[in-house]
Amino acid sequence: MIYFENVYKIYDGQSQPVVNNISFAVGKGEILTLLGSSGAGKTTLLKMVNRLCEPSKGRVMLDGQDVNTFNPVELRRQIGYVSQSVGLFPHMTVEENITLVLRLQKKNKNFRKNRADELLELVGLNPSTYAKRFPDELSGGQQQRVAVAKALAANPEYLLMDEPFAALDPILRAELQTELLRLHKTLHKTILFVTHDISEALRLGNTIGIMHQGKLEQIGTAQALLDSPANVFVKNFMATGTGVK
Ligand SMILES: Nc1ncnc2c1ncn2[C@@H]1O[C@H](COP(=O)(O)OP(=O)(O)OP(=O)(O)O)[C@@H](O)[C@H]1O
Ligand SMILES: [Mg+2]
Repeated sequence: MIYFENVYKIYDGQSQPVVNNISFAVGKGEILTLLGSSGAGKTTLLKMVNRLCEPSKGRVMLDGQDVNTFNPVELRRQIGYVSQSVGLFPHMTVEENITLVLRLQKKNKNFRKNRADELLELVGLNPSTYAKRFPDELSGGQQQRVAVAKALAANPEYLLMDEPFAALDPILRAELQTELLRLHKTLHKTILFVTHDISEALRLGNTIGIMHQGKLEQIGTAQALLDSPANVFVKNFMATGTGVK
């Protein structure tokens, strides 16, 4: 599991923490959604797991071990990451993008091709149509699917997903949410999913954490957040999807 223990982040030159004493766990095989408005600190928190960002105080544990004690390359091998920008390399084909990590692991060409085909099928793209295309020859939704396939390439135990479907229209977004739930059912990954869309958080997460100005205001099941909001912010956020200051 992933465990955040009293983590803080104060960026250089700033006085206020953007992550302020946050503790919670993402259980094995669980999808946990972090919900919060822009600037709440969601991306910062997510990046602490794969060490793209170091906490100023506190620690993040992966299966009981401080992520700081891992070699970053080995750590990231266990953690698939879909960043807030899609992050595909424009000069590489879909297949090359997906299997980049496998190339770094010195897997042979045949293995990489088979894995790319398998992953494309998994995310609902026909390999014979899409494997050799370049990212700019795909629609936004198809690029998102490729980004998910890429995050799964090394078969990581964990997935960090930072608003992966935010740029999509509602129909495509719903389709990809369904796809992700299906994938989760088959692959049983532990997923930390960031979104600012309340309906997405409700649809995907067993547990939902609500963040506001660096604080985790409340964490629990959707029912618990609706029935017993910890404060006025959570109550209003759940009611309107925006929160009221
Ligand atoms: N590298 C950085 N240096 C300084 N400040 C940063 C840096 N990255 C983020 N911040 C600040 O930290 C705060 C939290 O940013 P973060 O990206 O974690 O928010 P977020 O919840 O992911 O927002 P969004 O929904 O817009 O993606 C913001 O005020 C942001 O300006
Ligand atoms: Mg963000």
